[in-house]
Amino acid sequence: MKTPHASLALLTLLSTGAHAFAPNLHRAPSTALRATPPSQSNFLTPELAASCIATASGTPLYAYSLPALAEAASACLAFPNAYGLTVRYAMKACPNGSVLKYFLSRGIHIDASSGFEVRRAMEAGFQPEMISLSSQELPGDFADLVKMGIKVNACSVSQLERIGKAFPNTNQKVGIRINPGVGSGGFSSSTTGFSKTNVGGPSSSFGIWHELLTDGTVPSIVETYGLEVERIHTHIGSGSDPAIWQSVATRSLSFCKIWDTVTALNLGGGYKVGRNPGEKTTDLIEIGAPVADAFREFAKENNGRELKLEIEPGTYLVANAGALVATIQDKVSTSDHIFLKMDAGMTDVLRPSLYGAIHPITILPGSGKSSDIGTDTESVVVVGHCCESGDLMTPKPGEPEALEERTLRKAEIGDIAVMDGSGAYCSGMSTKNYNSFPEAPEVLVTAEGEVHLIRKRQRLEQIYENECDVPQGVF
Ligand SMILES: *Cc1c(COP(=O)(O)O)cnc(C)c1O
Ligand SMILES: *[C@@H]1O[C@H](CO)[C@@H](O)[C@H](O)[C@H]1NC(C)=O
Repeated sequence: MKTPHASLALLTLLSTGAHAFAPNLHRAPSTALRATPPSQSNFLTPELAASCIATASGTPLYAYSLPALAEAASACLAFPNAYGLTVRYAMKACPNGSVLKYFLSRGIHIDASSGFEVRRAMEAGFQPEMISLSSQELPGDFADLVKMGIKVNACSVSQLERIGKAFPNTNQKVGIRINPGVGSGGFSSSTTGFSKTNVGGPSSSFGIWHELLTDGTVPSIVETYGLEVERIHTHIGSGSDPAIWQSVATRSLSFCKIWDTVTALNLGGGYKVGRNPGEKTTDLIEIGAPVADAFREFAKENNGRELKLEIEPGTYLVANAGALVATIQDKVSTSDHIFLKMDAGMTDVLRPSLYGAIHPITILPGSGKSSDIGTDTESVVVVGHCCESGDLMTPKPGEPEALEERTLRKAEIGDIAVMDGSGAYCSGMSTKNYNSFPEAPEVLVTAEGEVHLIRKRQRLEQIYENECDVPQGVF
């Protein structure tokens, strides 16, 4: 099986000429990595990290690897399919305009989670027809968006009724997002199997419960308003097991039989990505092959109906393409632990304190030091910069409130910590501005080792620019 990160590390090494460092082969067993912590991250050599810091005028910052985005995009575009494929980027994973524009240049479409995301994608250059909206909160202006050409999926019975009332008896095309009654993990689930929310099954609020389709409720609403169902959508966070994918595809295809107007089946995202050594990244060819078979079988059994496949990867497209680069700004100890304090934290990467996600952390030499940080190691707890006990970067897996020591290269104040696997649900989902820390800048790193600023560091005034004074005399 192909290992994107090993080849990416090699690519970076080749292109930057950083021969002094062995590639951090991502599939090494975790014990090996613990024994000898790596001297470079997924894609940032010490030299490249220094160049990112110079471009962003300091830390913290997020760096994104263009070759890693490219490789993930190519893998998704090669997803096996029987009668056509549309790849939609679930933009909530990392919504910066430059990332969106890159995927647009690759012919990838958009899965938006709110009306605001729809507008943001259009601002980045996507045509309305390329955007599919599946939202927990139907935007107040959804009718305007639909008139522009946005494809809207009804994610609840009330959403379907609101769409019907806005376009009565016009054969308005609509998609139906279904909760098929099964689910495996949530959007936030890591490869180690824990997750905070389910996106499918009886404990999930996402989509229309499948029994409301089979008992006639949904078909009767569709008929009442004269709608035309053209898409069936399921997103249950299906993980990396081909058997689960086959059963999800077969189950989802069964809903396509309800309306012969359905032309596409969207199977959502949830392709797990290995962020840490020993964790498996979903093999899209392996999980996609039985899905393509199921589509062919469907065509055979249903008068040659050739359905198009849509997939909506978020995590898969960006997770390992991003890294948070921070400075170790303090080091303290107690009777039990040595703590490293970063100049970043839950304000930048929320996943560890939200549900105990594990990100690899690599220590690189701070400015002014030789690029060899030495081979001494130390067991430490890494924390963020917020006055908040939950701002913990090395939790026990799945236990956000329990701390766990990590063996890292020995770090002093001023050294650099790189948290890999921070491309998805990090810059876009954090406790932004907590403690009034500004939003960190973002840079894009090319295969040639060029670094481009794609978002500036926020200024303090921007944090409070929308605050209003109360009239005089109120206090
Ligand atoms: C979040 C989301 C995705 C992407 O999920 P990942 O786990 O990041 O791949 C896809 N589809 C929908 C509808 C989503 O809400
Ligand atoms: C992404 O970053 C660029 C560069 O700072 C900025 O101009 C742009 O507004 C950002 N785009 C989005 C959609 O956040």
